[in-house]
Amino acid sequence: MKNLKLITAAALTSSVLAMTAVAFAADGPHDKAIKARQAMFQTYSFNVGILSAMAKGDKPYDADVATEAANNLSAAANFGQSQMWPQGSDNATDGNARTRALPAIWTEFPAITEKAEGLKTAVAALVPVAGNGLEALQGAMGDVGASCKACHDDYRAKRR
Ligand code: HEC
Repeated sequence: MKNLKLITAAALTSSVLAMTAVAFAADGPHDKAIKARQAMFQTYSFNVGILSAMAKGDKPYDADVATEAANNLSAAANFGQSQMWPQGSDNATDGNARTRALPAIWTEFPAITEKAEGLKTAVAALVPVAGNGLEALQGAMGDVGASCKACHDDYRAKRR
């Protein structure tokens, strides 16, 4: 009898744990879009990381690698994003996957598209010169970094 109680208690505990796990993993209605845009930003970041490391001298300059990273960044910066930002997928609405997207993105639309255009313009200037030597790369990276920051300052929440 005693053993049965123990077993029941153990079973109960594990099912409560399983339920908790399910609760954490539960999909909100916008999680796929949130994850897709975060993956897009990770692609920005990966390629900017390669280019910045070269520009700062932390990684040897390589014209082919710089050109490839600039082209990748350009492809990602020109992604169609219309389905990545559904209404209600901000960081103030409960039930979303962890997102740092501030509600201002939707209330100030289309102002935010100017920030996205700022990035596209900076990347369009980078692409043709990234393979033209270290100085050319350095000259173009400032505007790219500034365009990322300009949007994050207004529309991305600080890390919690
Ligand atoms: C038009 C606005 C905008 C521009 C331009 C922009 N970002 Fe972001 N970025 C955001 C927002 C908003 C988020 C938060 C997304 C979320 O959590 O749902 C974000 C999130 C990120 C993240 C975190 C992704 C994750 O896994 O949670 C990284 C890294 C990032 N951005 C890098 C960059 C880099 C590098 C650039 C420039 C090349 C850039 N971003 C340009 C708005 C922008």
